[in-house]
Amino acid sequence: MAAVREQFGSRLGFILAAAGSAVGIGNLVGFPVAAAKNGGAAFLVIYAFFVLCICLPVMMAELAMGRCSQKDPLNAYRQLSGRSKLWSIAGWLSLITPYMIAVFYMVITVWLFGYLWQVGIGNLDKLANPDYFAQFINSNSVFAYFLVVALLVNAILLGGVKNGIERAAKILMPTLLVMLMCLVVFVLTLDNAFAGVSFYLIPDFSKINAGVINGALSQAFFSLSLGMGIMMTYGSYMGRNEKVAESARFVAITDTGVAFFAGLLILPAIFSFNPSVNTAELSESSVGLIFTFLPKIFLALQLSIGYFGASLVAGLFFLLVFFAAITSLVSITEVPISSLMETKSYSRKKALLYLTLTMALLSVVCILSFGRIEWLTEFVGYAGKSKSFFDVVVDVFYETILPLNGFLVCIFVAVKWKKQNFDVELECGDPEYKGSLVERYVNFSLSSIIPLVLLLVFINTVALKYFAVNLL
Ligand code: PHE
Repeated sequence: MAAVREQFGSRLGFILAAAGSAVGIGNLVGFPVAAAKNGGAAFLVIYAFFVLCICLPVMMAELAMGRCSQKDPLNAYRQLSGRSKLWSIAGWLSLITPYMIAVFYMVITVWLFGYLWQVGIGNLDKLANPDYFAQFINSNSVFAYFLVVALLVNAILLGGVKNGIERAAKILMPTLLVMLMCLVVFVLTLDNAFAGVSFYLIPDFSKINAGVINGALSQAFFSLSLGMGIMMTYGSYMGRNEKVAESARFVAITDTGVAFFAGLLILPAIFSFNPSVNTAELSESSVGLIFTFLPKIFLALQLSIGYFGASLVAGLFFLLVFFAAITSLVSITEVPISSLMETKSYSRKKALLYLTLTMALLSVVCILSFGRIEWLTEFVGYAGKSKSFFDVVVDVFYETILPLNGFLVCIFVAVKWKKQNFDVELECGDPEYKGSLVERYVNFSLSSIIPLVLLLVFINTVALKYFAVNLL
């Protein structure tokens, strides 16, 4: 067993690391597209409501479970449930989920790095070619980019919690925020940018329906890195004198703020490129938008600021998303590392070595499933569509399982761990929490509305994704 559990060095360090985990491709690209398609500010209001009323209590529960047990998710469930076999299953789910998300998130991060590199060597024009992406993902250079990203993530994780994760977050997160602001200011100076701003900020409530509400909740849930074991793991590195509720609030505000400003970046950019854009045509997938749509927009900037200027803006954008992806990747890989260190008494180095090797193997299987190997490309079929190995990993572990994991956290707190123990943990370091309105709301909602809503979202997602049946 690890002698002394590692800890974040400061409260700011924890907040930046947790926000680093939460801020990812979901905020920077997924949120703006979802808002554009679903009523602009109307979507924003619903999203903010879910963050506040549903996601924040779940985040507090995950952090509290981690901090109280001082363990990784698997062992947190085991310890707090008095080694119940049944609850170990929930523990295993919160371990396998981040492991598999890390596998496919690695692949996307590698692509981001590849695009960043290509912009850096002056190839923005190539990236803007509609056929480029399909060639790129099957080119051998992907393996070289893979190596660089793997080395970078390993270097950060090898440094441990304080000297690795926290230090990287302290550099990457402020840089990310500055880059985001610079890009927003620049984009707002473009012609037609304000058409995008008004499209984004004028609410259109007629677009809101049950499907949109379901989507807003799923988006908020994964944007805050919930249901992935991350907040439990990071909670276990929190000092007992920290205020869990307040820290969770800061993380949620940062994450939602970044998503909001990303909307002010992406939508004006799209409208400036094509003022008569029909947002219904925007790709549903973040991946499609980042790798095929946006390079075209960046290249179009060459008319006003020249090729070098356009490449600079594109480079800044890819660096921004790359930084966001790296901090998320680090946080998600830390979950199985911490489990392996705890369960098998491995050193950080040994745990990292084992995980890097097995995850790399699975990531390579993903990379081979874009056409190189047929049976991986046509791995299975459901809801009338053929799915590659990569698609299946994304569908199961990113799109489906998170609300289920969140549901299990709520039920665990309410039924097994018990509210009194949960309260004691949240009051630790935060005496004002006791008897507060927040405490009453959190206690009530975690055992009633929140698990119910999460279960409904889970069931609807399963019906829709795998059986093409929309229950809403
Ligand atoms: N919150 C991240 C996002 O918005 C999700 C994520 C976290 C993905 C950690 C992978 C790892 O993209």
